[in-house]
Amino acid sequence: MTVALVPAAGRGERLGAERPKALVPVHGLPLVTHAVRGLLNAGCVRHVVVAAPLANLAEMTAALADLGADVTVVPGGADRTESVRLALHAALAVLPETRIVLVHDAARAFTPPALVRSVTAAVAAGAAAVVPVMPVTDTVKRVDAAGVVVETPSRVDLRAVQTPQGFAVDVLLRAYEGYAVAGGAATDDAGLVERIGVPVHTVPGDVAAMKITTAFDLAVAEAVLAR
Ligand code: CTP
Ligand code: MG
Repeated sequence: MTVALVPAAGRGERLGAERPKALVPVHGLPLVTHAVRGLLNAGCVRHVVVAAPLANLAEMTAALADLGADVTVVPGGADRTESVRLALHAALAVLPETRIVLVHDAARAFTPPALVRSVTAAVAAGAAAVVPVMPVTDTVKRVDAAGVVVETPSRVDLRAVQTPQGFAVDVLLRAYEGYAVAGGAATDDAGLVERIGVPVHTVPGDVAAMKITTAFDLAVAEAVLAR
């Protein structure tokens, strides 16, 4: 049985809307509604647990009400890692027989259901941790504190990482167990799994799984959906 955790408790500071990013509407529906609907439409996700901003718990519950009973909303935490940890424990309380856990950013609201299925299938086939990746198209440079370039790593073996990221439940639990003492929060869930020495596999990502971070990204999403 597969459950999905959706961290949606961020403030969306870089977007700069007057409400949390997950509640910003695109094409008339909040981002979190698009994101959860995409997970359920994949057909392989049994239940979704959404981590919401504490102050917007009721509003987010209402935004997801039409999607049915297979969605639970819980209060999120101070950072993304803490929100996922809280959602993970809530999910296991609802469905203790969970075997596969997907973690999916509400901000990647237009992720194709086929990508959800391909990540899930890779975990079901035996990979304990799976992330969707895209080739990096920009040249990437490392800079020092003054902004001066230190080095230019070869682009060939760099990948940009998306969500959903998929995990065997025991591996994700172990990764989250000691994260606070093992280096603190991470920007993605696979980062915590890497710290416990479990190999993280990759599957091809999808441009449509882009993360909506800025007002420009939101405009792109609106334009793509309008077509
Ligand atoms: N997130 C979360 N809990 C937090 C912070 C972030 O659940 N305390 C979620 C966001 O809601 C988002 C995902 O993690 O779906 C990825 O984070 P990001 O794109 O950085 O969103 P925000 O933190 O909301 O945006 P910003 O960093 O611009 O404030
Ligand atoms: Mg953030």
